Amino acid sequence: MSGPVISLGGSIFSKTDEKYLSEFIERIKDEDGYALVVGGGPIAREQISKLRMMGAKEYYLDMMGIQATRLNATMVSLALGNLMDVPKSIDEAVRMMKVYKRVIMGGTEPGHTTDAVSLLLAEALSRDTVVNVTNVDYLYDKDPTVKGAKKIKNITYSDATKMITSEKRGAGANFPLDILSLNIARRSGIKIKIVSFRDPSNAFKAINGKKFEGTTVS
Ligand code: UTP
Repeated sequence: MSGPVISLGGSIFSKTDEKYLSEFIERIKDEDGYALVVGGGPIAREQISKLRMMGAKEYYLDMMGIQATRLNATMVSLALGNLMDVPKSIDEAVRMMKVYKRVIMGGTEPGHTTDAVSLLLAEALSRDTVVNVTNVDYLYDKDPTVKGAKKIKNITYSDATKMITSEKRGAGANFPLDILSLNIARRSGIKIKIVSFRDPSNAFKAINGKKFEGTTVS
């Protein structure tokens, strides 16, 4: 398969979104092969906040988050009936892809998110697209909870970077991308498609290179 790398946002593991996780798993079963990077979601946040209260340093909080992403990746892998381990590095993932034609992984090392992992994996596998399956349907021109926020269908790497760094966007705003991911995408010309997991058929349109509702960063 030469399809996209899929970055599955950890928020799909929230209790209220269980049905979308099941549907995602049902649908991905039918795909020929896949390179899937799974996020940490609520379990990562919960464990990190407990550990933070105990005074652990950021490095160790990231290590905790990585373990949560791997736990979620293991769950997806087992749900798909895969008897393979979750690779711990991009190199291991590339080797696994060669053998099994599919790979499911979580985080790799401290200091970034699973979105960055998905972009690095796309570079390593020479894939030209990452589909970010997340909890927002589009990138918006301002915080989507603010009235009058407009959907963005297409945006350049540099405009997306400006949006992230802009001070107007308050902390905690729903921004499904980070700067490191954008930088990796830009240096290798990898398109990022942002789609919501709450519309599975649309998400799989994006995965299969069809017309979809969502944002394309290129
Ligand atoms: P996520 O990448 O899932 O964080 O990893 P996120 O983007 O905040 O959450 P979702 O999944 O999109 O909802 C969870 C945490 O694990 C650590 C970071 O602390 C991150 O916030 N992590 C993850 C790493 O340090 N390195 C990695 O490669 C991945």
